[in-house]
Amino acid sequence: MIINAKTKLCCIIGNPVEHSLSPIMHNAGYEALRLNFAYMAFNVKELKEAIAGLRAIGVQGIVVTVPHKIEVMQYIDEIDETAQKIGAINTIVNENGVLTGTNTDWIGAIEALKKRTQLARKKVAVLGAGGAARAVCYGLMQEGAQVAVFNRTISKAQELVKHLKLENAYSLDEVEKIKSAEIIINTTSVGMESDISPLLDRVMQKDHIVFDIVYTPLKTKLIQQAEKVGAQVVYGDDMVLYGGLKQFEIFTGEKAPVDIMKKALTDELKKINK
Ligand code: ATR
Repeated sequence: MIINAKTKLCCIIGNPVEHSLSPIMHNAGYEALRLNFAYMAFNVKELKEAIAGLRAIGVQGIVVTVPHKIEVMQYIDEIDETAQKIGAINTIVNENGVLTGTNTDWIGAIEALKKRTQLARKKVAVLGAGGAARAVCYGLMQEGAQVAVFNRTISKAQELVKHLKLENAYSLDEVEKIKSAEIIINTTSVGMESDISPLLDRVMQKDHIVFDIVYTPLKTKLIQQAEKVGAQVVYGDDMVLYGGLKQFEIFTGEKAPVDIMKKALTDELKKINK
């Protein structure tokens, strides 16, 4: 890849951001399609100043990650309807100087699940009620699933259920309620770089489909519990991939080279999970 005076810049901003898989994935895609684009990661603490700076230098696209997904909404020009409903953005595109925010987290999650199952009328237990849960619940709602939210802090689950008009809110201890779901999705950070599961062993059943959005490690404790009883599992890297493909298309206007971007992501994950 040759960077010259016409190269368009895209980037991810977050804190921390050093472990992001986005640069590897997007740059592999640019190279494969010979696009004059480059993708960098920036660790950003001063969000307002960072957005003003990126705006001033005319970046093409910005991916926004933890902890900036909500605060950043006040520093851009437009927010599409989906992102408004979710209440968070993870993608900003620059069109002739106008910065528009959208949310692709839900697309990543839904595409990953739809590879395994249809979602209409399925009973889904979503664990967690933070920003990631909001996006996942929004996507499930679009597909016509029946969503119940389980969270350590039940008031937050209740808030989310009310906001998106979902089925029910429960505490994470409601084992029998989770057991009766067909699909279980972990959106909490429990299991990230640790050997802890948000659920007890006995919750998991053979006919469950279990999706963990955590991907470091890929085989979280929750995924291990699911595999042990023979349940179907969906790994978190699929969500990163499908969300990333959508962002690539938004930034470049080109169809993403799926196999190449997937390989770049998988190779990088292998290094991390070694
Ligand atoms: P994100 O944007 O990644 O979703 P977040 O908005 O901070 O991050 O939400 C984190 C979620 O993980 C919350 O649902 C949180 O539960 P609380 O609302 O009770 O805080 C959940 N979570 C984090 N650590 C947890 C733990 N040790 N046990 C159970 N839930 C946990």
